[in-house]
Amino acid sequence: MRANWISGILLTTAIAATPALAQETADAVSPEAPTEGQVQGLTDQVIAALEAKANGVPVEAENWMVAAANPLAVEAGARVLRAGGSAADAMVAVQVVLGLVEPQSSGLGGGAFLVWYDAASETLTTLDGRETAPLEATPRLFQDENGEPLKFFDAVVGGLSVGTPGTPALLEEAHRRWGRSPWPSLFVDGIQLADEGFLVSPRLAGLVERDAERLSRFPATAAYFLPDGQPLAQGQRLTNPAYAETLRTLATEGSAGFYGGDIAAGIVNTVRTAPGNPGVLSVTDLALYQVIEREPVCAAYRAYEVCGMGPPSSGALTVGQILGMVQGYDLPAMGPDSPEAWRLIGDASRLAFADRGRYMADSDFVPMPTEGLVDPDYLAQRGSLLSEGGALVDIAPGNPEFDHASNWADDVSLELPSTSHISIVDAYGNVLSMTTTIENGFGSRLMTNGFLLNNELTDFSFRTHSDGVPIANRLEPGKRPRSSMSPTIVLQDGVPVLAIGSPGGSRIIGYVAKSIIAWADWGMNIQEAVMLPHLVNRFGTYDLELDTAAEGHSDALIAMGFEVNPRDLTSGLHAIEIGEVLKGAADHRREGIALGD
Ligand code: GLY
Repeated sequence: MRANWISGILLTTAIAATPALAQETADAVSPEAPTEGQVQGLTDQVIAALEAKANGVPVEAENWMVAAANPLAVEAGARVLRAGGSAADAMVAVQVVLGLVEPQSSGLGGGAFLVWYDAASETLTTLDGRETAPLEATPRLFQDENGEPLKFFDAVVGGLSVGTPGTPALLEEAHRRWGRSPWPSLFVDGIQLADEGFLVSPRLAGLVERDAERLSRFPATAAYFLPDGQPLAQGQRLTNPAYAETLRTLATEGSAGFYGGDIAAGIVNTVRTAPGNPGVLSVTDLALYQVIEREPVCAAYRAYEVCGMGPPSSGALTVGQILGMVQGYDLPAMGPDSPEAWRLIGDASRLAFADRGRYMADSDFVPMPTEGLVDPDYLAQRGSLLSEGGALVDIAPGNPEFDHASNWADDVSLELPSTSHISIVDAYGNVLSMTTTIENGFGSRLMTNGFLLNNELTDFSFRTHSDGVPIANRLEPGKRPRSSMSPTIVLQDGVPVLAIGSPGGSRIIGYVAKSIIAWADWGMNIQEAVMLPHLVNRFGTYDLELDTAAEGHSDALIAMGFEVNPRDLTSGLHAIEIGEVLKGAADHRREGIALGD
């Protein structure tokens, strides 16, 4: 039955996806209702989820909900929740399947950030499972012999960019704290799918085709993604026995079986012998890896507290800054069709990105004004810069209150869209929001033990200094690269009302902020908020989502002084609104669904 229904879903999306996949960033999928023939064999629940997404309405449920980027992964999570598992249990099952069916975006070879609302203690916690820089890495890892930064893909592809993976340890830590189901039971779906095979999705097939040259450089990667030299085809059944074996090891030995023994040796050997671009990851790095619990970062917005992952992520701080700066303006009255609303959001985002580039990095290594950056008085003062009409001419970082004296130079590091987001609410009232990544699509392109290795180290600044002033996000041994991932839980009066997050490189921040504004200020239900066309401004140019109503703002924004750039904007927002009922949303730009009961 599984093969039938997934085939139907994936072939449906293929029709819309194929032309767009020809371009670098053109991977959006239009919402399209399943037809008679395509829905044969689907469970009623999955049919309903697909129809809801196609019709732009949320999936409703009373007890639990899971939203993620691939129906097979969502089904795995739903099975766990249906059997009484917690959101943490379901997340493990979802991640394990995502690493198989959406391997280009996240997996065991990557890292993740998790935000958790614990219903029993009514507390919010965040877990940092970010990759770390190897101890042998030097600040000049991504510079040539003249001290000049390497070209981006010269740094990405191969061993140099691989940080110590954090995801396996994060899965285990989340289960240790909040799990209710037996750990081995969470691997059953992943092992079965890897052994028996799954049908390659149109998105995976299209991305393999686009990246074929890079994937072909490494024998293990080429053998998997380009069997007989040809890119995987959509609808093709694909098995991954090596991944099934890795999952069996994790299921029986826990993360110790990943961070030591044969799997660790395989990772290190793959990284250090990568042809042309060997890296420096060692068995010591793997043995030393730790998940870190951190204080959530929260920012006030209207009646809400918008909470998420603090440093080394810039996500919650930058989302919080954008919201804090527009708070003094009447966005609810302006509405989503108002160019003035987008002027405010766009320039608030530019100001926030200026602070992000100057101040945000791994605060275990560099002093950061974390509290100062989301201080309401500071944000009101920054927001007052928006009071004049027209795009801001000068954008500069502000001077948030600093608990240490510090002076940093600005960093612009390139983050391309990949990654995946999981939102889950369980029957016990726990809420999970987790964004998970191997960084670039297909990460470093190195594959071992059935999974891809990340290229997360390229989220560091390639330069260490600018005009002699150090850059906060420079690479240092043991440090975690700055991220934009923004797993978010929104609270009202201390109670969670929304879980949300997205992939999309540094545009994640804009996708999440926009969706929260649409939901909180413009009265949209969460599926409408997710589907609202994107307008994203990070560094000055206003990205307008191609072939959507966002392009209709083009003339007005140009008249205000913005440059505009119509382009595909492939978010992968997955969200759950928590009220009298649960309302789940899946981004029509990707292949995911929300399921609940
Ligand atoms: N590599 C994507 C991010 O961490 O933001």
